[in-house]
Amino acid sequence: MKSLVQSRVRGVVRWIRTRRKLVTLVTLPTFLLAVNVPPAVALVADFEHDQLIHSADYTAQYGRWDVIDLPEDLQVNAIHAALLPTGKLLIVAGSGNDQASFDAGTFRTLLYDPAGGQSRLIPTPSDLFCSGHAFLPDGKLLVAGGTQRYEVLDGKVTKAAGGMVVKNENPDKGHAFEKGTEFVAPDGRKYKATTAFTVPPAVKTIIPEGAKVTPSQTTVFVESETDGPAGVTAKAAQYTITGLAGPDANNLYGLAQKLTLDKQDFQGIADTYEFDPVAERYVKVGDMVEKRWYPSLVGLPGGDVLAVSGLDGTGTILPGQNEVFDPSTKRWTERPDLFRYFPTYPALFQTAVPGRLFYSGSNAGYGPADAGRVPGFWNLQGNTFEPVTGLRDPDLMETSGSAFAGPVQGQKVIVVGGGGVGESNRSTTRIDVIDLKASKPTFTPGPGLPAPTRYPNVVQLPNDDLLISNGSRDYRGKGQSDLLLASLYHPSTNTLSPAADPTVGRDYHAEGILMPNGQVMTLGGNALFSDPADTKTAKFEKRLEIYTPPYLFHGPQPVITTAPTEAKLGTSMAVTTPDAGAIAAARLIRPSAATHATDLEQRSVILPVAKGSGGALDLRIPGDPTIVPPGYYMLFLVDKAGVPSVAKWVHVT
Ligand code: CU
Ligand code: CU
Repeated sequence: MKSLVQSRVRGVVRWIRTRRKLVTLVTLPTFLLAVNVPPAVALVADFEHDQLIHSADYTAQYGRWDVIDLPEDLQVNAIHAALLPTGKLLIVAGSGNDQASFDAGTFRTLLYDPAGGQSRLIPTPSDLFCSGHAFLPDGKLLVAGGTQRYEVLDGKVTKAAGGMVVKNENPDKGHAFEKGTEFVAPDGRKYKATTAFTVPPAVKTIIPEGAKVTPSQTTVFVESETDGPAGVTAKAAQYTITGLAGPDANNLYGLAQKLTLDKQDFQGIADTYEFDPVAERYVKVGDMVEKRWYPSLVGLPGGDVLAVSGLDGTGTILPGQNEVFDPSTKRWTERPDLFRYFPTYPALFQTAVPGRLFYSGSNAGYGPADAGRVPGFWNLQGNTFEPVTGLRDPDLMETSGSAFAGPVQGQKVIVVGGGGVGESNRSTTRIDVIDLKASKPTFTPGPGLPAPTRYPNVVQLPNDDLLISNGSRDYRGKGQSDLLLASLYHPSTNTLSPAADPTVGRDYHAEGILMPNGQVMTLGGNALFSDPADTKTAKFEKRLEIYTPPYLFHGPQPVITTAPTEAKLGTSMAVTTPDAGAIAAARLIRPSAATHATDLEQRSVILPVAKGSGGALDLRIPGDPTIVPPGYYMLFLVDKAGVPSVAKWVHVT
């Protein structure tokens, strides 16, 4: 790690030395002769640095960063970001990790148009802060889960509270209850439901002896009606529900294990929306079966979406209830056959094998250290899990980044950085690589990051490199540990090279997104503190910064004149370009939908190129939906110098 930083610094210094004469000639008359005091020297240094990082030689080797300041009324906390098939960036804040916004019911989404002019706020019907997202085959973004309630830290809880399991023994009808529904303990103590809830009818099954009724149940979070320790109970008990009469009073009741003044975690919601990129609005679809905060949504090859993990409506991590969304019925179905536990925001990738997901071990934030942390293959048929070995620093996977390294046909995944479980100050420089195609897949070492890094953003580029940027050394940037570093990972050689330094620090709640013109947008950043001593609360980072990779300084971009807007799996696309002779490769890149250092959507697909006559190219789309899950893709042509075109959008069906 040291050698990389040093060699970069040395490289830059050497560059300054060789250019010193020129820079001095330019700057001396302007600054040094006028005011010969330290601030002026600093200005000269700034000026030199500025000249350097914007020079042709430097940008061609390292690329460059440019900050974008949005007008104040368009600034949102970029908790989530997704590139829509219209080329606009959906930036979702919800309440934005801001208790005051949550209390005020202020939930925000910005639709940012990089072409300018059209950026606007979108009405946001639920608190989508810390939801999950995945693209559907028709290009809509499925957004599920979010925030029901903010956390209450240790010592700040005033009313004893906890999960109340509500049972219904009546097979003939369910029951809807309002927020504030009262539960009474055998000793007369009273507790109120903090949300509305419903209990479905009990399930009646016919058995040889007659009928068997299995009570249904749902869990709701309840709070004591009185403050302080008076509401605390450690004894499991049955609770009556105030206001029920007749048979209802017998059929419906509560069960709580304990109600305490313990720290209360964030709580999830079940709300699900499709964001329509054309109508530019959220459309409500069926709720999830479970409430989820920090779930992963994983697109399956047939277009269904699997929801995994999350904190439930009581702030408890789900022990393994997973469910599947069917885009044709717009409903979720519980999948007890897929019951499996993962920490929150697990990084799960569809492999080339149907029904086989790869869990890289990356995750972002909640769950015990000793469960669900081992990477491996999750076979959905039969619900089996095959662990893989070889991962270094396996205890430093929280807030790590994972991505397919290079085109998905290579079936290589990299795991980048990460830190210890919870508020640990430990983090790692580790990059490990695994070849999912190997007969016995095992992680092998890759190059080290220039610094130990939590929350890296890993972005697939059209020339097959990956940009690794942002992150902090310590938990949420503590001790001013935001890293102003970026690197390029080269999958073909398993090496890392330095990229230009970003100027905006980003840690927790940050994203990096490949844009259709080949640049990378970075956004977000949610450090805890703004000073090295960790005493002042930090503001959410609202500036965007865009990275222009070196390839955009290597000559003009090849041009796609025409390409089909629709194409079927396993067919060829006819694409025309005036640069046919120079084209070396074609890639389909699925747009990102990122949050919490997690982006399960981005993937790059090799399209074999055959040259026709008169500037026509024939691009072959693989036939396998495990390689190309149906949906919208950016089509890039890449020339022999590694310069990508501006992408055209193709709907693969
Ligand atoms: Cu978060
Ligand atoms: Cu279409």
